[in-house]
Amino acid sequence: MKISGFLSSLSEGFEALKISPRLLEETTAYIQDVERELQLQVNSVIPLVEEVGRITLDGGGKRLRPALVFLAARATGLPFERSRATQLGTAMELIHMATLIHDDVIDDAATRRGRPTAFSVHGITPSILGGDVLLAKAMQILAEDGDLRIIRMVSRAVVELAEGEVQEIAVRGQLDLSLDDHLSVLRMKTASFIECCCRIGGMLAASSESATDALGQYGHHLGMAFQIVDDILDFRGDSNKTGKPIATDFIDGQTTLPLIYLLTELSAEERTFVGSKFGNGASQEDLKMIVGWMNDRKALARADQDAREHASTARESLEGLPESDERRLLAGVTFGVTRRQN
Ligand code: FPP
Ligand code: MG
Repeated sequence: MKISGFLSSLSEGFEALKISPRLLEETTAYIQDVERELQLQVNSVIPLVEEVGRITLDGGGKRLRPALVFLAARATGLPFERSRATQLGTAMELIHMATLIHDDVIDDAATRRGRPTAFSVHGITPSILGGDVLLAKAMQILAEDGDLRIIRMVSRAVVELAEGEVQEIAVRGQLDLSLDDHLSVLRMKTASFIECCCRIGGMLAASSESATDALGQYGHHLGMAFQIVDDILDFRGDSNKTGKPIATDFIDGQTTLPLIYLLTELSAEERTFVGSKFGNGASQEDLKMIVGWMNDRKALARADQDAREHASTARESLEGLPESDERRLLAGVTFGVTRRQN
């Protein structure tokens, strides 16, 4: 069986992690079931709605969120209904897809994963409404599943996600954004939702509150690491691999961790230069110089270190769960996230 989704990015580490081929096959089969379900969910009687969904679905993706629902449930060591895991994993991926479609409108993004975004093909209104349809489909799935505790938790996470995105826009252009305010945005827009996926896994398996909390902690720290790496890749990534242009956060006037750390290492003159280019038509040459400083002054290395610390705390959070293949694979995901190139 061909390994798909986020597992393919971990493939060189499987032997070291001592993950059984059986778990890899079962996780791959689960992701394939989610993929089939997603294909059905993007169908619509309105062709334009379907096209917006298909552009996003066919663009691929790691399917990390559903995989976390499944692996978290398995890591409890308790039985659970696999079909529920497929449905709930699908709902979480649909919400994720909706947020990316909206995010690309907000960020004016022409490409994602190396392909044209729904926004660049169909414009603002169809993208916003097409994203809304996917969000509503996720709500339908959650309602059909019928677990009020899960519905309540996912609704709360979606509120946080949307509020986090609004807060990110509210602080756009603020070069002197504090570290705490920045980290709070990362928690709200990314980490809370990944935490929610892991908690769903625990709840599906009716695990103890402490095990679900441990999975939630794991998800929170994994999510923080994931977003910090995303923001590092914005400066350091290879556009051919990320599928996105370089330094878009800086161009858009969005302060992220590498920039916060760089500012602590600049002379007054250098800071004035960076401030004059921030969100203000920086040329490729300006960006090259700023990224060069980020490398030389160890701003990227410090952000990298923070991502690794979150990944390490995520692994420690798993210690209360039974030792298993699933737990090792969840630990492996943290290495995959910090090493990822796209
Ligand atoms: C990607 O961040 C975007 C998010 C993590 C959240 C987006 C949330 C919304 C648009 C609001 C809520 C929407 C719905 C449908 C509930 P990024 O821009 O840092 O990452 P990128 O580099 O992948 O674009
Ligand atoms: Mg974006």
